[in-house]
Amino acid sequence: MKTQVIVTDPDHPGPAEIARGVEVLAGGGLTAFAAETVYGLGAQAFDPAAVAAIFAAKGRPAVNPLIVHVGDIGQARICASEWPDEADRLARALWPGPLTLVLPRSSMIPDLITAGGSTVGLRVPASPVALALIRGLGSPIAAPSANRSNHLSPTRAEHVVADLDGQIDLVIDSGPTAIGLESTVLDLTTTPYRILRPGPILIQDLETILGPGNVVQDALAGSTGILKSPGSLAVHYAPRSPAFRASTRAEVDRAIGLEGVVVVAIGGHAGLDLSRSPRHILESPDEAARGLYDLMRRCDLMEPRAIVVLMPPDEPRWRAVRDRLARATCPLAEWPGSGD
Ligand code: TXA
Ligand code: MG
Repeated sequence: MKTQVIVTDPDHPGPAEIARGVEVLAGGGLTAFAAETVYGLGAQAFDPAAVAAIFAAKGRPAVNPLIVHVGDIGQARICASEWPDEADRLARALWPGPLTLVLPRSSMIPDLITAGGSTVGLRVPASPVALALIRGLGSPIAAPSANRSNHLSPTRAEHVVADLDGQIDLVIDSGPTAIGLESTVLDLTTTPYRILRPGPILIQDLETILGPGNVVQDALAGSTGILKSPGSLAVHYAPRSPAFRASTRAEVDRAIGLEGVVVVAIGGHAGLDLSRSPRHILESPDEAARGLYDLMRRCDLMEPRAIVVLMPPDEPRWRAVRDRLARATCPLAEWPGSGD
């Protein structure tokens, strides 16, 4: 298969590019497009064969369910068998936006999307390209992140091409995504409501709407516990090179300057001297969200012996970035090369 790449404006997508995307989707094909979070790999949600093609292209295990992207609350209600008041209040306040709601599925949703389960993840994405595609198709779009399974999510069209060239029909390139990290996934089928994947919408944003104490979130990756969202498996969102995380300056000091080691500092680590290593710093939570996956992919291309990440502080505003870093890395103490 030849993958076609077309370029369009992120804020005012061209009618011709959207029409081409809709044509591919309506014909049962796969179109990659920018959500506000990361690039998604879209297929018409009500077409089981098209949905099956997503799993094949990504090499994604069938046990990992897909998010269904809808244009508005009305479309969401067609996909869910129940629409509780909590869903309505969250959707009115935070959609379009980076919040996925897990609800009981309706009979419209193919089994493959839910991985055979009784729930479905729904959201209205905020990017004009995504909304125009849903509107043009006139029905929901199932879309996981447009990367090979277990690799880093794509935040640029080049990342999609690097992972999926020849496996999908179309990439609509509208430049880097606005946020850079995947949506927050909130399970509304259990009480208290549970954050299955931390993301741009924080627990305090949800508590403002659902009430304090009504939302829980799991400990970060690496700690034990039953994982309800397959995307929360520890090895996920990972670069190809061996990657390690350090929590303290002293730890990372030992890695700085070692042959073949790339050091990445996330968060404000004032005074850290990276002059003896390739220098990669992402200062604020927003900057880190936008730049993290691209930085990790660029580090990978250097084919380093190891990537060593100095973690940002353990604060609520850093939670989603810390979560993705914890999944992408092992503790530095586990690095066999750290003693030399
Ligand atoms: O920002 C995003 O959410 C992007 C863009 C494209 O919208 N999509 C995305 O999809 O990150 P994906 O498939 O890479 O991650 C979806 C996550 C996975 O962790 C999956 O296990 C979880 O959502 N998920 C989807 N449906 C679920 C369900 N019914 N129950 C529990 N978890 C679910
Ligand atoms: Mg993904």
